[in-house]
Amino acid sequence: MNLNIALLAGDGIGPEVIDQAVKVCEAVASKYDHQINWKPALTGAAAIDAVGEPYPDTTHEICASSDAVLFGAIGHPRFDNDPSAKVRPEQGLLKMRQKLGLFANVRPTFTFPSLIDKSPLKRERIEGTDLIILRELTGGVYFGERGRKDGGDTAYDTMTYTRQEIQRLAKKGFEMAMKRSKKLCCVDKANVLEASRLWRETVQAMEKDYPEVEVSYEFVDAVAMRLVQWPKAYDVMITANLFGDILTDEASVISGSMGLMPSSSVGNKVSLYEPIHGSYPQAAGKDIANPLATVLSAAMLFEDFNLTKEAETIRAVVNKSLSEGIVTEDLAEDGKAYKTSEVGDWLASNV
Ligand code: IPM
Ligand code: MG
Repeated sequence: MNLNIALLAGDGIGPEVIDQAVKVCEAVASKYDHQINWKPALTGAAAIDAVGEPYPDTTHEICASSDAVLFGAIGHPRFDNDPSAKVRPEQGLLKMRQKLGLFANVRPTFTFPSLIDKSPLKRERIEGTDLIILRELTGGVYFGERGRKDGGDTAYDTMTYTRQEIQRLAKKGFEMAMKRSKKLCCVDKANVLEASRLWRETVQAMEKDYPEVEVSYEFVDAVAMRLVQWPKAYDVMITANLFGDILTDEASVISGSMGLMPSSSVGNKVSLYEPIHGSYPQAAGKDIANPLATVLSAAMLFEDFNLTKEAETIRAVVNKSLSEGIVTEDLAEDGKAYKTSEVGDWLASNV
């Protein structure tokens, strides 16, 4: 297969983890006889510095005309403590999601046998967890009307959802549930929010089209508790943008390290693959960040092109690196940590 992949390294540790994913993808491509054409493009603070905006049109054109996008991370501390900054790296990510129509963010949470004891949660609670949070990504409070009034002393952000936005996300959830254990949980705050009541109404109306799927409805606050108490209660979960943002960070604790969880963002055309961790600026340039989430995101990419053997190969070498202790410092025991680039080299040569 011939794949054109836009390569958006972004900020912080983004470039370092992306480099490792590229090594692994190249090894997979040569093993299975594929040709990958990488198309590097600027995003985030790196793009602000170069051209003054975090998701330039040239980057969008490269992404929109590629088969997929592999993305590192976005964000730089120099903007975080400056509420008056006019442009922020994160705006680039939001603009990219919106312009590419990436309305569904697929964030799986699973455990690795060799890492169960890395999680702060008890083994018996998390062993065997295998859930997917399907987060709505181009609507809700992230994109609703916002502003200031009363001379700046009142600020508002509105959570707006249309029936159609909920339907297209829920459809993906139902379809995913059909391929898995046929359990779908709609996570909302329908006891308080009108937007959540529309979620419930919409999902309830869709139930008849998927009679085999058992649908449950739970409030997001209760889910936040149950997710760490008994994650095995869940399989496919669908939820609004902000709720999904929060729950997926929480869920990453189950796996033992945020450096492990991959994600994909899908829409109508090109999909984007990225680790769920952020740009981890404190580690940037030190060659210490865990590249596995990005490498596993590349596995999701192959999977989506029905390149199942390729995806399996990547997951197998990742598991092997974990069980053999070829890991970065976040996972290392007794000070035996490998560098980001060493882990990447090891994975690529083991492919
Ligand atoms: C994520 C991140 C982003 C989000 C930030 C960086 C804008 O936290 O992808 O989860 O809030 O969506
Ligand atoms: Mg987040």
